[in-house]
Amino acid sequence: MTHNSLTRRAALGVLSAAAAGAVSRRAGAIAPAAAPTAVVPYGAAINSPALTNDRAYREAAARYCQVIVPESEMKWDELRPSRGEYRFENADIIVAFAREHRLALRGHTFAWYGAMPEWVNTIASAAEAERELTSHIQTVVSRYRDVVSSWDVVNEPIPDKPSGVSDLRQFVWSRHLGENYIPIAFRAAAAVDPKAMLVLNEYDVEYIGARFQARRDALRHIVRRLLDQNVPLHAVGLQAHLYADRAIDRDGLQAFVSELKGWGLKILITEMDVIDDTLPGPEKERDAAVAAKADDFLEAVFAACRPEVILTWGLSDRYTWVPTYNKRADGRLNRPLPLDDAMKPKPLMAVIDRFRRRAV
Ligand code: G3I
Repeated sequence: MTHNSLTRRAALGVLSAAAAGAVSRRAGAIAPAAAPTAVVPYGAAINSPALTNDRAYREAAARYCQVIVPESEMKWDELRPSRGEYRFENADIIVAFAREHRLALRGHTFAWYGAMPEWVNTIASAAEAERELTSHIQTVVSRYRDVVSSWDVVNEPIPDKPSGVSDLRQFVWSRHLGENYIPIAFRAAAAVDPKAMLVLNEYDVEYIGARFQARRDALRHIVRRLLDQNVPLHAVGLQAHLYADRAIDRDGLQAFVSELKGWGLKILITEMDVIDDTLPGPEKERDAAVAAKADDFLEAVFAACRPEVILTWGLSDRYTWVPTYNKRADGRLNRPLPLDDAMKPKPLMAVIDRFRRRAV
């Protein structure tokens, strides 16, 4: 039995009861409170076409993951192609897989500027916006309440380069509701499933640099305001799309995570991968650099707390979003994920495994 499957068995021991719903999913728990020696669950964003058509991918997901999240199937553009319509079939493929393999399942995402269908631009008032956002969340959470233990309720609320701590990204919900779209979304989700862990998810808070410090400050500001309003926010998701040519702000990130933990929040690593287009071509050298970058990031987080879960945004290099924006100039495949395109584990998987098993 390989290390991974031993680890997986141990982790499943902790998770499977939760995945099967046998353990009451208290608010704020993806799995029963991790005992000091428990293993941090690992998982990945999963896409339904690959799950349907690629046996090697399906087998790898079942073998390595204890938790999964639909990469796109629960987003507005996939669920709501037109105003009166819900299309659940692709999300249901991933939900069925989670049930079949007794995996914990995360939901992604209710309020994000990305992946929005055109029709939402016809929403013409604050009342209409609140009605559409609330009814969407009520419908989706109700459908998946017995299997999704954690939701990215709000994703990426901060602009790329925030002009100040209260700078909010402009899109349909913030345009009509201002910052109130955030409490509205969290409260709508909590009203339907009080046991689900409700998460605010953000990117580019991991690095050294004024822009990244500004993003940490803005995220801290949003979180503090939500907690002061008793909004049911349970956790912050660090997406951790790690750029190989950016330095991890170990001190800044550790202080940031410690402060959030001090406010009673849980921390999730939700979308980790290493964007390798600036790294040298040779695979062995590149894989080592990718693993080192992840190690640097995980060291900073674990110095402050034990995350609830470590997810990568994809499982295998065969299916990754990275070349969409970061194609390599040398034409070689990107190698951002723990399994290569032949589903074989790379040094990055060993780094993740090492941190998952780190005792508290
Ligand atoms: O499902 C349609 C398919 O029917 C159609 O044939 C095909 C070609 O047009 O498009 C398919 O939809 C694509 C979808 O991924 C599923 O593959 C969309 O065009 C494409 O825009 C979408 O990209 C996803 C993107 O979010 C936008 O939703 C990426 O795969 C996904 O990795 C990326 O994930 C985001 C997280 O949600 C938030 N954090 C950043 C992360 C990376 O950008």
